[in-house]
Amino acid sequence: MKYWNNSALIGVFAAIALGIAAGAVANVPDHPEDVVKYRKAVQQSLAAHMRIMGAVVKGKVSFTGHLADQARALRVSSKTFVDNLAALFPAGTGADKLKTRARPEIWRDWKKFEASAKKFGAETAKLAEAAKSGDMKAFGVQYRAVGKACTACHKPFRAKRKRKKKEKKK
Ligand code: HEC
Repeated sequence: MKYWNNSALIGVFAAIALGIAAGAVANVPDHPEDVVKYRKAVQQSLAAHMRIMGAVVKGKVSFTGHLADQARALRVSSKTFVDNLAALFPAGTGADKLKTRARPEIWRDWKKFEASAKKFGAETAKLAEAAKSGDMKAFGVQYRAVGKACTACHKPFRAKRKRKKKEKKK
């Protein structure tokens, strides 16, 4: 009986060791450049949904039936951003090291950055709700509130775009 207990125990330890080894592989940190590219792509997805809805809100196109899906899609993308803020903006991914418009204020004033992300997240949730009501006027008002939440974060935390000429050099 004792023998079995021991070998069972060895099995458990072996399993734990394997688990740790597998965990170590899975936990190889992502390259900072790739994290920056990734977070830019997430931002672009926000912008794409905003442009799509903007065209309808401004009356350029008549696809009002698309608004609810687009508002939901923005909500989903914004969750990827807001719920993973620390993973998307880890320390050491600023403009001193990488090609990014993330300003040092992000890490200097993390609480404020986080608060403006949360505020933005709440506004996108309201937009998804407004879309359900089908009230175009209310939707337009909330759409602009979301836009303001983008700007409220970009102003203090996103650097201005560099001039094209400089970018070309590389
Ligand atoms: C809580 C802050 C915050 C909010 C809210 C926010 N952004 Fe951003 N956004 C940033 C930061 C920081 C960057 C710079 C990222 C970088 O260059 O690494 C950025 C970059 C971008 C970019 C440029 C991406 C690229 O390819 O370089 C676009 C476009 C953008 N945001 C659109 C939006 C839109 C549209 C919204 C609202 C629907 C929004 N953002 C909301 C912080 C925010």
